[in-house]
Amino acid sequence: MWLDGASVPTLVVDARADAERIVADEIVALLRENPALVLGLATGNSPVGVYRELCAAQAAGRVSFANASTFNLDEYLELPGGDPRSFRRWMEEHLFDRVKPRAVHMPECTALQPEPARVGEAYERLIQAAGGIDVQLLGIGRNGHIGFNEPGAPRLSRTRVVELHPATRELAASAFGAIAHVPKRAITMGVATILAARRIRVLAFGAGKAEIVKRALVDEVSSACPVTFLRGHPDVKLFVDREAAAAVTR
Ligand code: F6R
Repeated sequence: MWLDGASVPTLVVDARADAERIVADEIVALLRENPALVLGLATGNSPVGVYRELCAAQAAGRVSFANASTFNLDEYLELPGGDPRSFRRWMEEHLFDRVKPRAVHMPECTALQPEPARVGEAYERLIQAAGGIDVQLLGIGRNGHIGFNEPGAPRLSRTRVVELHPATRELAASAFGAIAHVPKRAITMGVATILAARRIRVLAFGAGKAEIVKRALVDEVSSACPVTFLRGHPDVKLFVDREAAAAVTR
């Protein structure tokens, strides 16, 4: 059911698997139309089922990623290369090892670009050179972050080094054993980088997202809640299950 009069087109599904299938099917269709599709990707719980569907589609021969390229939203700073908690490793496990895109990009320091402060500019240039992002997948942080654009992130921000919000580090603590081990900084696409994508598909599932889904749809558009900046994008859709929609449907 599409939510009536929502400030962002919002589809409420009975179960998250329904949304995962819809979004994966759309990506498969786009890839079949344009095998050189440029995908913007997120890590975390929200997109995991979409990646499962995409791996299944590739295994069934319904689609190929051999000409596609990908740009992830963000990556921690100050983790050794190949660290099992890096977003690169996570993406390999959930998608890249199985679908093998032609080119994979993460906003991270490399031998070619070891200086964090320069990585952002270089990443923006790579996105431009690829022709821009055709479809960007997003989750929403409980504090309203998109990528690691935490509250306070400007509308015009581009890929850059950011400090992680204490609430974001707290949520990551279990993966790192303790909050003290969670990196304090990351590199993230900016709000303006995300808004430049031709299509944006946002996923939010479970009761823990109900409050932020409501804020995304009704709060004033401002950097206090960066997800509100999605309003007004020409092709954005939000997919939520009943639990995540609870505060806007009752
Ligand atoms: C991940 C990212 C984050 C997450 C957000 C929601 O690459 O950029 O903004 O999308 O924190 O995380 P989950 O999906 O785990 O609830």
